[in-house]
Amino acid sequence: MSAVMSRPRRSVLAVPGSNPRFIEKARGLDVDAFFLDLEDAVAPLEKEKARDTVVAALNEGGWDGKVRTVRVNDLTTHWTYRDVITVVEGAGANLDCLILPKVTDASQVRWLDLLLTQIERATGLEPGRIGIEAQIEDARGLVEVDAIAAASPRLEALVYGPADFMASINMKTLVVGEQPPGYDVGDAYHYVLMRILMAARANDLHAIDGPYLQIRDVEAFRRSAGRAAALGFDGKWVLHPLQVDAANEVFTPSQEDYDHAEEILDAYEHATTVQRRGAVMLGEEMLDEASRKMALVVAAKGRAAGLERTTEPRR
Ligand code: GLV
Ligand code: MG
Repeated sequence: MSAVMSRPRRSVLAVPGSNPRFIEKARGLDVDAFFLDLEDAVAPLEKEKARDTVVAALNEGGWDGKVRTVRVNDLTTHWTYRDVITVVEGAGANLDCLILPKVTDASQVRWLDLLLTQIERATGLEPGRIGIEAQIEDARGLVEVDAIAAASPRLEALVYGPADFMASINMKTLVVGEQPPGYDVGDAYHYVLMRILMAARANDLHAIDGPYLQIRDVEAFRRSAGRAAALGFDGKWVLHPLQVDAANEVFTPSQEDYDHAEEILDAYEHATTVQRRGAVMLGEEMLDEASRKMALVVAAKGRAAGLERTTEPRR
């Protein structure tokens, strides 16, 4: 697991960058990551003031090991360049990543990479430390997702933006994250999620699911997060404290699965090194090199989430 992947992003809290009260509350929540939003959660007339609020919030600290992210405006607006310059010049030392929304092609990511490099050089920040998350939110972005995912070594994650995406493809519903009525033959988001997941995995990036807007319906959030987690996604945005525990839980392996993964790793290590065998039985289960790889994924996610093994090695 790479350094980027070992930093979990099970729950990614969306915080309107213009609202100091929400920012204060966000500090106390048990999320892996947060982003201060300068984009769609901030009204056009508040955009410029919000930059200063965001810079102050990052510099005041109190974020307690969370991945610190800011979402700038997309490149069809006139705000993007100044969002980046103000935030990174003002708080670059206290910032881990920028989210670029509505990315439609790789050149947009390269633009952000170059601008970050210039600001880092000019201000003495460590070169290349500030990462990029690219948000895939429309048909063009999805069609270009492979090139986008490979566009910069700064990339840390691909993020699905379901609300904008559903609008972009004319999906016949207003309920973000739920299945559109009339489509009763499967999961209407399967293709999109898989496409993003493949591009992320091929480039060693996190795959993050976007928001679920019915914030009081925690069971529905859990179902939506569970579908993404089952495919292999690493985390999901949370919009409200009610969604935080559910996200952390859904994207952490169960204790039982974690213990089992560690058992497989032990048993397979013993088989290949001591017994010099490439396939071995663990109880009723046959293990080979592919089993080891699957177990490594679960074990790495469990370790990153702080799980500890509760069983003894068994051979
Ligand atoms: C998030 O930005 C979304 O469009 O769902
Ligand atoms: Mg969006």
